[in-house]
Amino acid sequence: MQTHEIRRRFLDHFVKAGHTEVPSASLILDDPNLLFVNAGMVPFVPFFLGQQTPSYSRATSVQKCVRTLDIEEVGITTRHNTFFQMAGNFSFGDYFKKEAISHAWQLLTGSVEDGGYGIDPTRLWATVYLDDDEAFSIWRDEVGVPEERIQRRGMKDNYWSMGIPGPCGPCSEIFYDRGAEYGVEGGPEADEDRYIEIWNLVFMQNERGEGTNKGDYPILGPLPKKNIDTGMGVERVAFLLQGVENVYETDLLRPVIDKAAELTGSVYGTDHTSDVRFRVIADHARTAAMLIADGVNPGNYGRGYVLRRLLRRIVRSAKLLGSEQPTMREFMIVVRDTMAPSYPVLETDFTRIENVAVGEETAFLKTLASGSALFENAAETVKSSGKSVIAGDQAFALHDTYGFPIDLTLEMASEAGLTVDEDGFRTLMAEQRKRAKDDAQARKHAHADLTVYKELLDRGATEFTGFDELVSEAHVLALIVDGVRVPVAKAGQDVEVILDRSPLYAESGGQIADIGSLTAPGLEAKVNDVQKIAKKVWTHKVTVQKGEITEGDVVLAHVDAEWRKGATQGHSGTHMVHAALRQVLGPNAVQAGSLNKPGYLRFDFSWQGALSDSQKQDIEALTNEAVASNYAVNTFVTDLDKAKAMGAMALFGENYGDEVRVVEIGGPFSMELCGGTHVGSSAQIGQVTLLGEQSVGSGIRRVEAYVGLDSYRYLAKERALLAGLSSSLKVPSEEVPARVEALVERLKVAEKELEQTKAKAVLAAAGEYVAKAKRIGSVLVIAEPAPAGVGGNDLRSLVTDIKGRLGSEPAVVALLGDVDGKVPFVVASSKAAQGLGVKAGELVASFGPKIGGRGGGKPDMAQGSGSDSAGIPAALDAIRDRVGELAGGS
Ligand code: ALA
Repeated sequence: MQTHEIRRRFLDHFVKAGHTEVPSASLILDDPNLLFVNAGMVPFVPFFLGQQTPSYSRATSVQKCVRTLDIEEVGITTRHNTFFQMAGNFSFGDYFKKEAISHAWQLLTGSVEDGGYGIDPTRLWATVYLDDDEAFSIWRDEVGVPEERIQRRGMKDNYWSMGIPGPCGPCSEIFYDRGAEYGVEGGPEADEDRYIEIWNLVFMQNERGEGTNKGDYPILGPLPKKNIDTGMGVERVAFLLQGVENVYETDLLRPVIDKAAELTGSVYGTDHTSDVRFRVIADHARTAAMLIADGVNPGNYGRGYVLRRLLRRIVRSAKLLGSEQPTMREFMIVVRDTMAPSYPVLETDFTRIENVAVGEETAFLKTLASGSALFENAAETVKSSGKSVIAGDQAFALHDTYGFPIDLTLEMASEAGLTVDEDGFRTLMAEQRKRAKDDAQARKHAHADLTVYKELLDRGATEFTGFDELVSEAHVLALIVDGVRVPVAKAGQDVEVILDRSPLYAESGGQIADIGSLTAPGLEAKVNDVQKIAKKVWTHKVTVQKGEITEGDVVLAHVDAEWRKGATQGHSGTHMVHAALRQVLGPNAVQAGSLNKPGYLRFDFSWQGALSDSQKQDIEALTNEAVASNYAVNTFVTDLDKAKAMGAMALFGENYGDEVRVVEIGGPFSMELCGGTHVGSSAQIGQVTLLGEQSVGSGIRRVEAYVGLDSYRYLAKERALLAGLSSSLKVPSEEVPARVEALVERLKVAEKELEQTKAKAVLAAAGEYVAKAKRIGSVLVIAEPAPAGVGGNDLRSLVTDIKGRLGSEPAVVALLGDVDGKVPFVVASSKAAQGLGVKAGELVASFGPKIGGRGGGKPDMAQGSGSDSAGIPAALDAIRDRVGELAGGS
């Protein structure tokens, strides 16, 4: 049975049993504690906790999941996928254990003709939590599973939570026995490779607190209702029903393996090490594509780092299998072709997905190339010192700094007849991992402790009144100072204020918070910031300026109207730039983030390479034309599917509820899902001026702009600059560019002329120096001060020129300059003079000390510099004396 069919049957089975089919949520939800959605129940957490009431009491879904904790296991075991599909059925206070068990049993063992999976019931085993006699007897007495195929297991195996605080409960798992040839008898307790877990039924009834591992966390208490959460591994069922050996050989992954075999020349199924590499490619290629589809870009932290690691492992594996060429594009094509029937986004967004994946491949191949050079250096050093082991810290440096994977280092070392100190390497790796873990732990604990808000969260969401009014009456529900509830806050105190309703916008969706004030008779307080707690309750960060504020008070909450006006301009401006950007660049320019505040906006989007000047101009022009068209801004609430069908743009990673707010500016021009505050019509945005565009990470670009009056102020400053230039240049402003160009041209000509004049002057000077030559003994000596200001290369060419003019005579030329308190000098000695023992380099010793100088050189030419120009005459005398000593007699 094909995987797509297994999915379909699951959903049909539960829809028939009264469940609402809910589409998979994005892999990325806005929860800093959760790297990726890792179970089917994640999008339903608020329902289990009783924070929200769903419009259905039974649901079913096939949720995209990513788990990367076991990344090292991929390809080695039969059943670890980093991406997998979890099929689930959920009851929110509706049915419980009995129905959950019987629904699962019917689907698994029901005949294929009747829509089931047709699994032989004698192959199935069940586990229950230690003391869950109820579940035990349902399995035994109602389903009829023989007692010896029901096992009781502890907290680690049969008590489920998301790994973080939230809903939890005992669970009952269903295992499939692959048969005696796959391992020992004895059920899942004995062997989880022979007995494969296919379905977990969680009896979700408690809430858990913080804790470090699977069996060790406090149970805080019961949930408001008893719920059911189940998860069936679609890939695992596929692997068993398709009669293949592991999840990687199922219909959706095997084609990637085959493509890898074709591209690398290796054969799948011949040796274990290669097979693992094939499976890594198949697993990771699919996970990478799904992550990119949901908006993840490769990076060095968090989600981005996971994606980067997956993509690099693909490149590395392909290389180790023998590929010399890039392969990523081909793998992405196969993933698209196999997965698009269930995930059409892989088809519609393919160009972007491919660009991101191939971009990372290209960059990593470069890294590998430079890493290889480094490796060869290291290998060379080891060999030349007569050793044969590459040190652990070298392997670690290759890995850590150059992203050079250890198994590649190992492979290359063995090709070079060397080994690697793997233990040393692993020790360093372990230390690094520990540092990372400590860091992650520290960050986790840095998260706000939400217990103080618990009661307020239970009470329900803060009502936002600010779409319609800027002042609202509100009740003070709570006051919090430094994480502790207080009854009252007095003048001078900073306090968090929770209101039942508020017109002040809490920071979200890229729009920063409103500022404003709280007033009541005798009370004045400033609102500096507004933040959302668990997306629901808004906390106002307030400084009390006069009087006091008490829990239970009725206050007036005011939005600073000027601020809000600017904020709406910034936010609507962001939508306009986004729309214009997509018109110019096309649909692959996908929003990756934004920030807007009064007067300013920035917008990040996925894109490879810099924008051209004309693209930037087009975006700015389109934006301003649309703004000036004074489009009406319409906002309305509808359901997600309708909004998407209308073409509204949604942000990756947002977990939209059933109802979404759509902001439409100019009909088709801009339509986005958005909870922000906006102008009434587009002309109110005012001028939008793009400031530039830059890279903010691999494959992500950022544009920034000024909006409204800030735009005007920016342009006014630019204009004043131009006016200043125009007045200094004494031309009208439109002639400034031509004038500047002409000036630059003239400057170039003038510089050239100056050079020529200088060269001529130097040449002329040469003639004058020759005339000053004096014969000392048989040597012609010119020892003179250099022309004013001449030093460096000019001095050297002058001396060379003079020497040349003296022909083949024995001659010495020494010129000492005086430039900015320094005494540059050059001494030259002709061949004939050298023959008489007069060498330039040695002459330096005779006069150098007189000018506080050092220097030296060869027999024909010496140069250097001194620091005392007062000594020049004495130095010149010293040269002449020395020549006299050396050559005077001949
Ligand atoms: N939430 C349960 C699991 O992920 C079903 O195993």
